[in-house]
Amino acid sequence: MGFLYKNFVKPILFRLDPEKAHELAVDSLSILLKTPALPRLMAGVNQLGKNSAPIRLCGIDFPNRVGLAAGFDKNAVCWPAFESLGFGHVEIGTVTFLPQPGNPKPRMFRYPEQTAILNRMGFNNDGAEAVAERLSRSLAKRSRRIPLGVNIGKSKAAPLDQAVADYEGSFKLLADYSDYVVINVSSPNTPDLRKLQEETRLRELLQALVVLNEARSKDPDRSRKPIFLKVAPDLSFEQLDSIVATLLELKLDGIIATNTTMEREGAFRDIDQTGGISGKPVDSMSTKIIAHIAKTTEGKLPIIGVGGILDPDSAKRKIDAGASLVQLYSGMIFEGPFLGKKIARILA
Ligand SMILES: Cc1cc2nc3c(=O)[nH]c(=O)nc-3n(C[C@H](O)[C@H](O)[C@H](O)COP(=O)(O)O)c2cc1C
Repeated sequence: MGFLYKNFVKPILFRLDPEKAHELAVDSLSILLKTPALPRLMAGVNQLGKNSAPIRLCGIDFPNRVGLAAGFDKNAVCWPAFESLGFGHVEIGTVTFLPQPGNPKPRMFRYPEQTAILNRMGFNNDGAEAVAERLSRSLAKRSRRIPLGVNIGKSKAAPLDQAVADYEGSFKLLADYSDYVVINVSSPNTPDLRKLQEETRLRELLQALVVLNEARSKDPDRSRKPIFLKVAPDLSFEQLDSIVATLLELKLDGIIATNTTMEREGAFRDIDQTGGISGKPVDSMSTKIIAHIAKTTEGKLPIIGVGGILDPDSAKRKIDAGASLVQLYSGMIFEGPFLGKKIARILA
């Protein structure tokens, strides 16, 4: 399958503008989902059950350790296709409370020699209400066979001092449709977003969401959802320690490490493009962050490792560093849609 992708599909996709190629992939998967027999056939071919190595994390059963990272299916239009492709979970979003167009195009760039992607999408998405409606409709038609994470971020129009209400609005609309919720405070493409990683602001935000979540557990029709925080790879260990202390104190369920980097190393020193870099350049940075969190918490805080997973070895390094699950996005652009299945099988 990887051979087919690399020799026939990738050359065509790589001739297109990266965002156009992404839209084509999302549209193709959405069409695939409308032909009911095909996803089932694909799921059979990928033998999710047969090759699975189930793992329970935060009360959720994952059929394998490899998930699709946030950013690919921002609007929840094609996520069930990833089960057919052999992924063990999918994270949709980032969804913001208000619909927003994101930054001006072009805003996504490929760097094949560095096996890297640079993006400054800026949370382009349909908004929490529309995404909640879409999830409600698609979940009425099919049950979740792999866990679904919903990643929420701050609307660009919401000033930093109204960020809490903005996240609360998205949480209230979307938590019902998720198996876990991710609080994204680490995208480099929304002005001031990363300031929410600072201790006082972070505590205020997470405390408010924990209170909302506890209220869910008292509602007979709802349940408490595991909450993860997604962090940047550009944090110092000191900043990371303060974040981890807050997560432990507020009893958050886990951490996703990491988002894209603002660091400009090697060839990127001379590339004048704003945005976050993913793929190979972020691999060792995120693995170091994972190892540090695992060491300082003595493995007490569940970690989902993401950043530069391009093959089974890079995934294994993250698991060895302390991640329970891994996710990928850029690797799929370079290696094809079956990368998740390939890694899951080898990890199993
Ligand atoms: C084009 C693109 C868009 C992304 N959008 C989001 C997003 O909306 N929310 C988010 O939390 N992460 C987003 N990410 C970051 C990925 O989820 C992931 O954390 C990062 O790319 C590192 O993993 P990778 O090297 O496997 O791509 C995006 C990444 C890319 C390449």
